[in-house]
Amino acid sequence: MRIARVDPFQPDPEPIALAADLLKMGKLVAFPTETVYGLGANALDEGAVQSIFSVKSRPGYNPLIVHVADVESARRLTAVWPQSAERLARAFWPGPLTLILPKHPIIPHAVTAGLSSVAVRVPAHPVAQALLRAAALPIAAPSANRSSEVSPTTANHVAQSLGEAVDLILDGGPTPLGIESTVLDLSGAQPVLLRPGLLSTKELEPVLKVPLQTLRELAGAAARPSPGMLNRHYAPRAALKLYRQHETDRALQLASTAKAEKRIVGALLLSSLDAPLTHPIAMPAEPGAYARLLYASLHSLDALACDLILVECPPESPSWDGIRDRLQRAATPL
Ligand code: TXA
Ligand code: MG
Repeated sequence: MRIARVDPFQPDPEPIALAADLLKMGKLVAFPTETVYGLGANALDEGAVQSIFSVKSRPGYNPLIVHVADVESARRLTAVWPQSAERLARAFWPGPLTLILPKHPIIPHAVTAGLSSVAVRVPAHPVAQALLRAAALPIAAPSANRSSEVSPTTANHVAQSLGEAVDLILDGGPTPLGIESTVLDLSGAQPVLLRPGLLSTKELEPVLKVPLQTLRELAGAAARPSPGMLNRHYAPRAALKLYRQHETDRALQLASTAKAEKRIVGALLLSSLDAPLTHPIAMPAEPGAYARLLYASLHSLDALACDLILVECPPESPSWDGIRDRLQRAATPL
């Protein structure tokens, strides 16, 4: 595995050209996007796409996002391009939004896990943009971590999780947003929010002009498949316990017991917790800043060999939806 440094604002042409050549040869290249690092392969090369699944130990039923440089290229990967897609794309691309649409036959089944829809996204990160333009290919890229682990926000996280299995890592420094894109399904009769992100319903609904359904609202009804919404996900090695204000006593009790058993306790806090914590981290009170630090904090608590991580639940407001979703998926019951 090679790591090549690249300027995140003005990507150097040499490592970008090398990465593009590797992709054309069917190899895997990890690269920064504005959300998290992606593990990229030529989306039109079935063999290369299959190696993403094996390297990540990703279940074959969990489809990949296809990244392209612009709206026109995204449109060409779909069989239907509704008005809603056009409006969202014009408003939010390039950026942290993934749209699910009926797939064009050109997309191999391995990419979509056999589904008739495809996930497309135009990333904003200059390195991702430069790579897409140099390779002149659609790039299938899940987050560059082993399946169910915490996503990588630095090249180092990628190297630690995937090591020699990646042919090249483009190191463009820490990713600016820190959690994965918002995933919106536009393939059915009504738009459905499959994965919340930093772009929240508050920003999406005025552009969509119709209310966005959430998966929870759909559950029980004619639920459409959402293969990637496996329950435990984005999880550190340590047990992560999410506590609300009224559960503070329980959090204190867990910390005391752990301390008595000489276990290492980390915490992500928004207010102070009067407990015997080994590695407390004070998190920012603003969702953008919190998201940027979230995965790096979980990776560092894992590196400090924490057995338990206590996490104070962030506010209920829509701008925190993406963060709460990731924390809930990483958590085990209190
Ligand atoms: O920010 C991101 O989205 C990052 C960067 C690298 O772009 N990528 C990422 O990919 O988070 P991944 O594979 O970790 O998550 C993709 C999610 C999964 O939950 C998957 O199930 C869902 O998108 N997905 C992909 N195609 C789908 C489809 N056709 N229908 C429903 N869900 C789909
Ligand atoms: Mg992922």
